[in-house]
Amino acid sequence: MTTPFPADFARSLPKAELHVHLEGSVDPATMLRLAERHGVEAPAIDVAGIDEWLRFDGFPSFLDRYFWVCGLLRTADDFADIAHAYLATAHAQGAVHVEFHVSSSYHIVEREADWSEVLGGVVAGCERAEADFGISSLLIPDLSPHLGAGAAHRALDVVLAELHPRVVAVGMGGPADNWLEEDFGSAFARARDAGLRTVSHAGEHGPAWEVRHALEQFGAERIQHGIGAMGDPEVVAMLVEEGVACDVCPGSNLALAAVPSLDVHPLPAMLDSGITVTLGSDDPPLFGTDLLSEYRHAWNLCDLDESGLRVLAENSLVESFASTAAIEGWLAGD
Ligand code: ADE
Ligand code: ZN
Repeated sequence: MTTPFPADFARSLPKAELHVHLEGSVDPATMLRLAERHGVEAPAIDVAGIDEWLRFDGFPSFLDRYFWVCGLLRTADDFADIAHAYLATAHAQGAVHVEFHVSSSYHIVEREADWSEVLGGVVAGCERAEADFGISSLLIPDLSPHLGAGAAHRALDVVLAELHPRVVAVGMGGPADNWLEEDFGSAFARARDAGLRTVSHAGEHGPAWEVRHALEQFGAERIQHGIGAMGDPEVVAMLVEEGVACDVCPGSNLALAAVPSLDVHPLPAMLDSGITVTLGSDDPPLFGTDLLSEYRHAWNLCDLDESGLRVLAENSLVESFASTAAIEGWLAGD
């Protein structure tokens, strides 16, 4: 039998969260408030109803709900409020640093929002949280493949035109259905030329080739999920040799049926193979999870001891895009 999860110890470990979507961090009560604020009809009248509505049956139905939440975010204050709220939650779980994925393609291309207002709001929320809790945060605008490469470049044009110092990387979210037909690699190359780091979702629902593609074509420096890599030892070796970490979210994988049950989640095999793993909560209220629950999943799945939890927390700091001085300070317990 597994020893009970040492929640207080896990909370006390300085850690970073490198895989959480800002828009997916909105809780049901806030969804209802935002819907009322903007005169949007909500799919339910109370939190219990929204919880019910959040029982999706796979990735496409999840994405419908995720984009509905994205559409509730209209003003700079909306973005500031949700960024601050999530950073408060993360701080309470021992996070010292958060890298928010922000669905930039949605806001810029689909909603035709003013990116300055979106970015200004998120940055204001991050600054307020830094003042309130001392928590550090950076931003990763995500491109969406389903809109095509042209749209990815258009979103990137806008992102690159206003590079706030908190914008540290460009990422890729969503399904990989058209990765082989469309040239997204050139968008990542432009981001790199502009001085940004690069990450990508890959191998979440799909197989190992997605991870190889993200490494070879996008130059991804971290992979979000990456569980599909375990199907190909060559891709596993690439991740290990290139020192590319996977930001793994077992609770999300279970909620979206990327794995049939946690018992068969490949996290233990990923750790055994030498892949560097960090833990994230992805879209926590949408999946009924939070950062510490992900550490609990890892504890249960991988038969960890406290030093195993410490390694995962340290990985998240070391693999972050924070400054070397900040990382060294966190590792030293400053
Ligand atoms: N965007 C928000 N959540 C996501 C996920 N789990 N996978 C890919 N894109 C996402
Ligand atoms: Zn994700």
